Amino acid sequence: MAKKTPAGWTRKHLLGLEDLEAGEIRHLLDAAEKFLPYAKGARPARALAGKPPVPPGPLANRTVLNLFCEDSTRTRTSFTLAAERLGARVVEFQAATSSLKKNESLLDTARNIEAMGLDAIVIRHSDRGAPHAVAEAVQCSVLNAGDDAHEHPTQALLDFLAIRHKLGRLEGLTVAIVGDIRHSRVARSNLYGLAKMGSRVIFVGPPPFLEGLGDIAAPVETSTDLDAILPDCDAVMMLRVQFERHERNVPPGGVALDLEDYKRAYQLTAKRLARAKRGAIVLHPGPINRGLEITDQVADGPQSAILHQVTCGVAVRMAALSLCIGALDRERKIARPHPAQGLIQSDGAPLTPPLSHKGRGRQKRGLSREGRGRGKSSAGA
Ligand code: CP
Repeated sequence: MAKKTPAGWTRKHLLGLEDLEAGEIRHLLDAAEKFLPYAKGARPARALAGKPPVPPGPLANRTVLNLFCEDSTRTRTSFTLAAERLGARVVEFQAATSSLKKNESLLDTARNIEAMGLDAIVIRHSDRGAPHAVAEAVQCSVLNAGDDAHEHPTQALLDFLAIRHKLGRLEGLTVAIVGDIRHSRVARSNLYGLAKMGSRVIFVGPPPFLEGLGDIAAPVETSTDLDAILPDCDAVMMLRVQFERHERNVPPGGVALDLEDYKRAYQLTAKRLARAKRGAIVLHPGPINRGLEITDQVADGPQSAILHQVTCGVAVRMAALSLCIGALDRERKIARPHPAQGLIQSDGAPLTPPLSHKGRGRQKRGLSREGRGRGKSSAGA
C-alpha cells in the first residue's frame, strides 16, 4: 500500500527520491499534471486570453543555472525549456570551457556563480553525492539532474507521470526495469519512488547487471528471466547498456557481456512484448541503443510511451522548479535574504526594498525604481 502522508511541499532542494514521502511525490505529480498542457510550448500565462504577449511567468526575474558536468540531451533541454516557460532566465554552464579545467573545485564553481545571483542550480555530475555537496555549500535551491549511478529524481518523476497518464494509476502495478541496473541511477530513483507509490518493481537482467546493488536502501526484487516475469507486467522499462560506465565502475576487464546473448535473452522485441499484460506500456529513459536493448518496432510502436515520457519531463521540471523555488522564497522571508533576490516575491513581483535617502526623494516625486515596471527588475543584476 502507498504510504499516506500530508500533501504539500516544503523542500527547497530535490536531490533524490530516497528521502521523499509518497505525499510529496503525489503533490509534485499533481502540480506537473497542471503544467502538462504547456509542456509542448505555450507559457502558462500566455495561454490565458488577454495577457501580454510575453508575460513574466511565475518565475519571472529568477535565474536558474544548468550546471551539467556530464553529457545530456533530454534532461538539460527540458530543464531549460521548463525554466524559460515559467519566465526564468537560464544560464547554461559550459563545463568543457570553464575553470573546472583549471582545477577549480565544483563547490567553488557553484559558490562563485551563486555570488552573481541565483535561485536554483540544476546539476548533473559523474560523482555520486555531488548535488548533495553543492546543496550544502550554497543558499539557493539545488535540483539533482543525475549523479553517477545514484539518483535521477526528475527522470523517475516523469516516468511516474507518464505511467499515471497512460494507465491511470501507480498503485497496484507491476513494473519491470530491464537491463543495466548496476549502472542505472534511473533504476534506483524509480525503485524508491514506485515502491512508495504502491507499485511492485522487478529488476531484470543478466547476473553482472544485478550485482553491486548493495547501496540501495530499499528491498530489491530481481529476476534473470524476462520472459517469465513479462506476463505480470503492466509496464516494461528498458534501460540503456551504459558502456561508458563499465570500465570505470567495474573491476578490471569491465562487464563481460556477449551482446548476441544479451539480445537473445533481454532485447524487447514485439514477440516478447506480446507476453506482457494486455495494454502494457513500454518506457525507456533514453538515449536508446536501438537494436540492442529494444527493437525499432517496439520503440516506435503503439505501446511505446517513450516520447510521452519526454513531454512529461518538461511538466515535471516546471513543477519541480516552481515548488523548490517556492520553498526557497518562504525560507528567504524568514532567513537572511540574498541582497538582490530578497527583492523578489514568490509570484515574481519585486518587493519594496528599504529606500535610501535618495530613493525616498525619488519616491516622493513618483520615480521610485520599483515603480518603473516589474519586468525590468532583476534578481541576477
Ligand atoms: N534520460 C536522460 O537523462 O537523458 P539525457 O542523458 O539525454 O539527459
